Amino acid sequence: MKRHLILSAVATAFLLTPVMFASAQSIESLRGAGVEETVAPLNTYQIDEGRFSRNYRQQPPLIPHSVDKYQVDLKANQCLSCHDWTNAAERNAPTLSMTHYQDRDGTQLNQVSGSRWFCTQCHVPQANTPGLVDNLFQSARGN
Ligand code: HEC
Ligand code: HEC
Repeated sequence: MKRHLILSAVATAFLLTPVMFASAQSIESLRGAGVEETVAPLNTYQIDEGRFSRNYRQQPPLIPHSVDKYQVDLKANQCLSCHDWTNAAERNAPTLSMTHYQDRDGTQLNQVSGSRWFCTQCHVPQANTPGLVDNLFQSARGN
């Protein structure tokens, strides 16, 4: 019985330790605000309209429109409703290039290749934002 009591006292001490530490420190959010403070959302940067020139020949072109509404998952790909060769002309959208219909063995397919299914793996929307870090990148066009 005594042993049982000692064990449960040790267990309670273990359980309480983090609580004691947490209350000793002041808790704040990642952005440094108090827990009960309302934090205004960060600036959202607007999409830059108009197609950008590519910076190097093989660059996946940037997306000149918003993509939030378009679902892409294992079964559905709403990008294809405008960009697939079967729809592009009607939707007045650029058609996927031949590389998107080629499997890894180089066979030309009628449907977009599995390796190109998740569009935003390579294509990102363009927005006018300050750079996250300084960099010395120069376009391959030499300007
Ligand atoms: C409602 C039709 C529609 C849907 C859906 C759509 N797009 Fe577009 N997309 C367009 C049109 C139209 C343009 C051309 C815009 C222009 O010329 O300014 C375009 C342009 C692009 C370009 C630029 C191509 C280039 O050569 O510069 C990319 C990349 C692109 N879209 C990717 C996507 C991706 C990825 C998705 C899905 C997340 C998507 N689009 C969904 C209509 C659509
Ligand atoms: C593995 C990377 C990758 C994925 C995934 C991918 N793309 Fe691309 N895409 C590229 C590259 C690289 C180019 C430019 C070279 C080329 O045309 O192959 C390109 C070109 C394009 C173009 C311009 C075609 C032209 O001739 O101007 C459009 C539009 C486009 N992609 C849309 C899409 C859409 C929509 C999806 C999803 C169904 C998608 N891409 C998936 C890499 C990718």
